[in-house]
Amino acid sequence: MTFPEIIGKKRDGESLTREEIARFVRGAGNGGLAGEQLAALLMAICIRGMTAEETAWLTEEMLQSGEMWHLADAVPEAVDKHSTGGIGDTVSLIFAPLMAAVGVPIAMMAGRGLGHSQGTLDKLEAIPGFRVGWDRGGMLDLLERCGAAVVAQTDDIAPADRTLYALRDITATVPSLPLIVGSIMSKKLALGAGTLSLDVKCGSGAFRKTLPEAKELAEALRSVARSAGVACEAVITEMDQPLGPALGTACEVRQAIEIIEGRGSAPLREVTLRLAEEALVLRGRDRTSARADLEKALDDGSAAVAWEAFVRAHCGNPDPDLLARPRRVVDVLAEGPGRLTAVDGEDLGRAAVEVGAGRRRLDEVIDYGGGIEVLVRLGDPIEPGQPLARVLLGERPVDEPAVIDKVREAFTLAHDAPEQPPLVYGTPELT
Ligand code: URA
Repeated sequence: MTFPEIIGKKRDGESLTREEIARFVRGAGNGGLAGEQLAALLMAICIRGMTAEETAWLTEEMLQSGEMWHLADAVPEAVDKHSTGGIGDTVSLIFAPLMAAVGVPIAMMAGRGLGHSQGTLDKLEAIPGFRVGWDRGGMLDLLERCGAAVVAQTDDIAPADRTLYALRDITATVPSLPLIVGSIMSKKLALGAGTLSLDVKCGSGAFRKTLPEAKELAEALRSVARSAGVACEAVITEMDQPLGPALGTACEVRQAIEIIEGRGSAPLREVTLRLAEEALVLRGRDRTSARADLEKALDDGSAAVAWEAFVRAHCGNPDPDLLARPRRVVDVLAEGPGRLTAVDGEDLGRAAVEVGAGRRRLDEVIDYGGGIEVLVRLGDPIEPGQPLARVLLGERPVDEPAVIDKVREAFTLAHDAPEQPPLVYGTPELT
């Protein structure tokens, strides 16, 4: 069968065989297939979906497209964490030093911005000098020196995912369940930590907008992890508005530092604590005492000490005054009175990408000074002329009026008080 015939099969809603999926993944990993062909099959998968069997094969083929680090053999107690992508989602930056502060080694293979969401690696690289490129030995060394390592996928880890991740980002094929599962789990299994805490985002700023969709993703990710022998829990969390007020890179690092120092956004702190608590429970700890230790680490300065060590070990300079600042800040004002009843998280995320927090083209550079700060939360009463958000403008040339309109239109005001979604929905069986 030719590759166009394989694309046609999926376009027409048929299931692919393992060998056909393997050809797709090989072609993505070794450059043997044209970008157009990969993109066409991605779109067909996005529209037609995949069976659980096809999804498992896709994940395995993506995993086997590269090397595996078998981290659990070297550091059995190491924990990995991953989010399915949201906005104002600064959790990973806090999670790593927090867990290190309570004595649990953290090893994450993180990603860059995808679609409307901002990536952990892009945020960390906003710290002057911070290095994310390490091999297995480098990661083990980081774990020994500071108890936490956050690294980029190397060329040899799940190389098919590197190509497909970048292509999905520019072809509107990010939200597909099998593509998300293959992408996340191929990297997680290639790293090979024994414990994995998953944050599955649900809402307007997530790739899965509804609770049934998020639940389906949480179950699929967890089941692939558990079948591979990983102790894994997936917690579904609310993403109907930004988790923390800042969307961007340098501004999110500042937001993380606030939480690490025991201050800052309560929802961001709470979701981080819940995911960390879940990881400690997976490692055999009692939930109540785990929670107490984590809260203490944020409040008594030990997470802040761990953050400094974490940044220095990755060659970064932890002085927050060195983080990029916006060149100019423009307030986005409310037009009418009312209550904030909805936030279009995807539009807000895209506006943040526009001003520099992400890439509009594969080769675009991040503008660390750019971003958005959201000043209101769902349910807040809003007066006309009240600032809803601040647009942080860096060096990247942007169509300022269009961005401001987009940000304003992302907020819906009405007269009735909205139903407040819970911040944490819980594990799939609790939802
Ligand atoms: N994170 C990933 O690594 N991949 C996805 O597809 C979504 C979030």
